[in-house]
Amino acid sequence: MSGGLAIAGLGPGDDALVTPEVTAALAEATDVVGYIPYVARVAPREGLTLHASDNREELDRAAHALGMAAAGRRVVVVSSGDPGVFAMASAVFEAVEAGPPHWRDLDIRVLPGITAMLAAAARAGAPLGHDFCAINLSDNLKPWALVEKRLRLAIEADFAMAFYNPRSKARPEGFARALDVLRDACGDARPVVFARAVSTPEEALRVVPLTEARPEMADMRTVVLVGSSLTQIIARNGAPIVYTPRSAPE
Ligand SMILES: C[S@@+](CC[C@H](N)C(=O)[O-])C[C@H]1O[C@@H](n2cnc3c(N)ncnc32)[C@H](O)[C@@H]1O
Repeated sequence: MSGGLAIAGLGPGDDALVTPEVTAALAEATDVVGYIPYVARVAPREGLTLHASDNREELDRAAHALGMAAAGRRVVVVSSGDPGVFAMASAVFEAVEAGPPHWRDLDIRVLPGITAMLAAAARAGAPLGHDFCAINLSDNLKPWALVEKRLRLAIEADFAMAFYNPRSKARPEGFARALDVLRDACGDARPVVFARAVSTPEEALRVVPLTEARPEMADMRTVVLVGSSLTQIIARNGAPIVYTPRSAPE
């Protein structure tokens, strides 16, 4: 069999949320490449080599995977969630564009996965049920001024929002700043969902009005969903339901 490269999404954590297409690609792979905790989710077996690397090495990892595919290996690059959402698919194509011309002729497939915001939204109800956007709050690969500009425009456009990479130990202040921007522009009651480690044994979901949202409620395993002005909370015994109606008034 000739070589090729699949860039696969492992979903948010639970094996039941890995697509059959991704499972099949992993079963045929000779090599799996990815960030250490994602590679750890792939069961070792004879004939499969696991290549785990650190977080900030995406381009090197992509080039390594492309080189192996060009040499005839069946390589799967794994991401959590969906590989096209703040993940390895773009890194692989950046490497293809900058790399040797023969990489462009490789058999490269992107295999979708369930991204964190959709897994989190499903747990909460349907907070992303009307127009929404996703913003990566990390300023590792873009200036904070751009993050804040996009946040302000998303608020002005009244999108529901999903924030990925909200807060790390190295960047504790960005999310606090984002909450300040939200408080200046949105009503006190705007629903905020903190969804941590969705679909894993550590899963925790917290729904609070914007006034009660605190920076410490988020970490790097949390995706934060913020409702639009139309998003509702249905109180009931147990966890509330958060949903955004399908229509907006004229
Ligand atoms: C580098 S991004 C990768 C996103 C991934 N490609 C996806 O589609 O979900 C990592 C961020 O995704 C979010 N995330 C990933 N898995 C999650 C989960 N199981 N529960 C909550 N958030 C998650 C967090 O915001 C985390 O900081």
